[in-house]
Amino acid sequence: MQAVTYEHFGDASVLKLSEIAVPQPGRGEVQVRVNVASLNPVDFKLRSGILRLVGRPKRPAIKGKDFAGVVTALGADVEDYIVGQRVFGSVNPMNGQGACAQFVALDTELVTPTPSELSDEVAACLPVAAGTALQSLADIAHLNQGQSILITGASGAVGSAAVQIACLLGAQVTGVCGAANIDYVLGLGAERVIDYKKGNWLALDRRFDVIFDAAAVSSFAEARPRLNTLGIYINTMPRAALYGSALLARLSSRQRCVPFLLKIDSELLRRLARLAVDQTIVPHIQETVSLAQVACAQQQMEQGQVHGKICVRVVP
Ligand SMILES: NC(=O)c1ccc[n+]([C@@H]2O[C@H](COP(=O)([O-])OP(=O)(O)OC[C@H]3O[C@@H](n4cnc5c(N)ncnc54)[C@H](OP(=O)(O)O)[C@@H]3O)[C@@H](O)[C@H]2O)c1
Repeated sequence: MQAVTYEHFGDASVLKLSEIAVPQPGRGEVQVRVNVASLNPVDFKLRSGILRLVGRPKRPAIKGKDFAGVVTALGADVEDYIVGQRVFGSVNPMNGQGACAQFVALDTELVTPTPSELSDEVAACLPVAAGTALQSLADIAHLNQGQSILITGASGAVGSAAVQIACLLGAQVTGVCGAANIDYVLGLGAERVIDYKKGNWLALDRRFDVIFDAAAVSSFAEARPRLNTLGIYINTMPRAALYGSALLARLSSRQRCVPFLLKIDSELLRRLARLAVDQTIVPHIQETVSLAQVACAQQQMEQGQVHGKICVRVVP
């Protein structure tokens, strides 16, 4: 099969379109023909090597995590799926799997059926980005009606899903993004939007119940004065210093600092599918490219030139 692979850490030029063996489903796994994949920043962070302490994908590594497609084969003991069924999900790249490929084989815990109302493009955009927003706001922050939340990166794939979910939960949303995307974030339902080049949200004269630093542009120490007494700060870039802050916050206050690490399972995917079907989450898809264009698209993402998501159409 064709797949976008790399053998060494490096910039986007290490990516190549290769011919590799089709993965076969093991016990409890399904094989899926990928129709559409979507790109996330974690893909280029893995490829560049900056996450090498967290883990190294098996070589040749295959690009991408999120996909939507059709079940083509069942491993032993799989009873909940049938061949021909539409599914979407997210692979674990450490296992030598990747979504920018014609086929993936993965545990049924990492997929869920695609509702007929959703296109493969929309389904493929959901797992990592919207999953991060949903797990952060609903499961960790337990965001409630009337609470206040500040969301950085509010125009990005994670942040825009977070704005949409926060509005659904009845929170008062302040977004932070670039000037070009202010109207987009207001249109998602934010009450107030700050252009990060013109205003510094850390200097605001108010406090929030939740600060969701989706863009990972602050430290807990910087954000803490902007948090209420019982406030919670969530940052999407877990670093050693952040774990230290989390411990300190627990020991010294009623505030919480959470280094976020996404955990995808089929229940999370089902919740995301429901939110997309009722149009609570509507991903912004900037562009759909082919497998041969993935390296170029990823370079654009790394340079901050992408608004929302890039999809990769694997089956023309
Ligand atoms: N830990 C985890 O499990 C996990 C899971 C998912 C994602 N993440 C991380 O979450 C981050 C966001 O992912 P994404 O897919 O949403 O990326 P993205 O689509 O590229 O969005 C980046 C966002 O950051 C904004 N931004 C840039 N500089 C900023 C600043 N100084 N202040 C405030 N906002 C700023 C951009 O605004 P403009 O475009 O409007 O300028 C854009 O909205 C990435 O670092 C990703 O790796 C972590």
